[in-house]
Amino acid sequence: MLAMEYRGPKRVRAVQKPMPEIKHPQDAIVKVLRTCICGSDLHLYNGNVPDTRVGSTFGHEFIGEVVEIGSEVTKVKVGDRVIVPFNIACGECHFCRQGMFGNCHESNTEATAVGAIFGYSHTAGGFNGGQAEYARVPYANVGPTIIPAGMDLDDAVLLTDVVPTGYQAAEMAGIQPGDTVLVFGAGPIGIMAARCAWLFGAGRVMIVDQEDYRLEFARNYSYCEAYNFKEIGDPVLFFKKATDWLGADVVIDAVGAEAAGNTMQTITGRKLLLQAGSATALHWAINSVKKGGVVSVVGVYGPTDNLVPIGNVLNKGLTIRANQASVKRLLPRLIEHIQNGVLNPKALITHRIPLEEVADGYRMFSAKLDNCIKTVMIPPTANHQ
Ligand SMILES: NC(=O)c1ccc[n+]([C@@H]2O[C@H](COP(=O)([O-])OP(=O)(O)OC[C@H]3O[C@@H](n4cnc5c(N)ncnc54)[C@H](O)[C@@H]3O)[C@@H](O)[C@H]2O)c1
Ligand SMILES: [Zn+2]
Ligand SMILES: [Zn+2]
Repeated sequence: MLAMEYRGPKRVRAVQKPMPEIKHPQDAIVKVLRTCICGSDLHLYNGNVPDTRVGSTFGHEFIGEVVEIGSEVTKVKVGDRVIVPFNIACGECHFCRQGMFGNCHESNTEATAVGAIFGYSHTAGGFNGGQAEYARVPYANVGPTIIPAGMDLDDAVLLTDVVPTGYQAAEMAGIQPGDTVLVFGAGPIGIMAARCAWLFGAGRVMIVDQEDYRLEFARNYSYCEAYNFKEIGDPVLFFKKATDWLGADVVIDAVGAEAAGNTMQTITGRKLLLQAGSATALHWAINSVKKGGVVSVVGVYGPTDNLVPIGNVLNKGLTIRANQASVKRLLPRLIEHIQNGVLNPKALITHRIPLEEVADGYRMFSAKLDNCIKTVMIPPTANHQ
C-alpha cells in the first residue's frame, strides 16, 4: 500500500509499504478515506520529538472504512465508516474511565504521561499513523465512532482532532460569561478555539499570529479581533493596554513548540534543542493574562524541560490547564454542533491533495505557503469515494 514515510528532519516521501495486519483480537484495519496534516506533525517533521524513527508513518487525523476486524471487535463491523480519534485509548483504565482518553495508562508502553497517539513517534507508543491507504486501529471497540449519515467526510476528518482540540482549549479555559479571551496562534487549532470561545459565553475574543492571511481568515470565521505580533510591539504590553491594563481573563496557547517571536527561545528551543521547543507563546500567555486568570495550553511541547516563568505563575495566582484533547469524550457533543450548523469545520480546508504528493503537502503547510490553513490528503484507493 501507499504510505507516507519519515526519512529524517524535513524529509518525508510517499512509498510502498506492507499492508497493516490484525495483531490483537481488538484491532481493526481501516481503509483511509481522508487524512490531514496537523501542526503537531510539524514537531515531528522538524525533528523536535524524541525517538521519531526513520521509516515510520505519521498521521493522527484520519477517517476510513473498516475492512477487517479482530475476533473481539463488536462495536464496529466491516463496511462501517468511522471517525478515528487521534488518541489510542483502552477505554478501561483509571484515566479512560474518567473520560481522560488522551491520558490512557495502558495504550502507550513507552511513557505514562501521554497515552498512545497514531503516528506520533515512539514516545507516543510507536504506532504507525493514517497518512496511508490503510491503518491498523487498536482498541477498536473504544475509539472508532461511526460517521453519522449525511455528514460530509471533510467535516468528519476534522472531528479526529481540530474540532475537539479547539473546543477543549476553550473548555479548559473555564470561560465565564463576558470574559475576554486571548488566543495565541491562528492555525486550525487556534481558529477553532477562538470560534468555540463564544460557545462558552466569551464577551470578547482576540487572536494573535504572524501570518496575515490566517488572521484575516480568523477575523471572519471566528468573529474575533486579530493582531499580527510583528506589528504591535511588545505583545504583553499591547494586550495589557487593550484590557484596561488588567490582562485578558483567559489566554489560550495554541502555538506550542514551534513558536516564533523571540530569538533566544528560538535558538534554545528549536535550533539547539536545549529545551523542548520554544516557549515564546507560553511566556506571552502567562504574562498577558489577568492576575487570578487561567492559561489553557493545547500547544504541544516536548516531554522534557522548558524555560517557563513559574515565578510569574505563582505571583499572579494563575491556573494553568493543559492536555492533549480527549477526542472520544467530546465527539457526541461536537457531532451535534456540526449537524445543527453551530460549527462548520470543513471551511478550514484550503488544500486537497493526493497522498502521492505528501512531501509537497508538508513543505507547503510547514512554510505556510499558498495561504494554507488545513491540508487534506486523499489516498489513491479512496479516490472514487
Ligand atoms: N493538545 C492537543 O490535543 C493538540 C491537538 C492538535 C494540535 N495541537 C497543537 O496545537 C498547536 C497548533 O496546531 P495547528 O495545527 O493550529 O498548527 P499550525 O502550525 O498550523 O499553527 C500554529 C500557528 O502559530 C503561529 N505562531 C508561531 N509563533 C507564534 C507566537 N509566538 N504567537 C502567536 N502565534 C504564533 C504560526 O504562525 C501558526 O500560524 C501545535 O502545537 C499542535 O501540536 C495540540
Ligand atoms: Zn492533529
Ligand atoms: Zn485507558
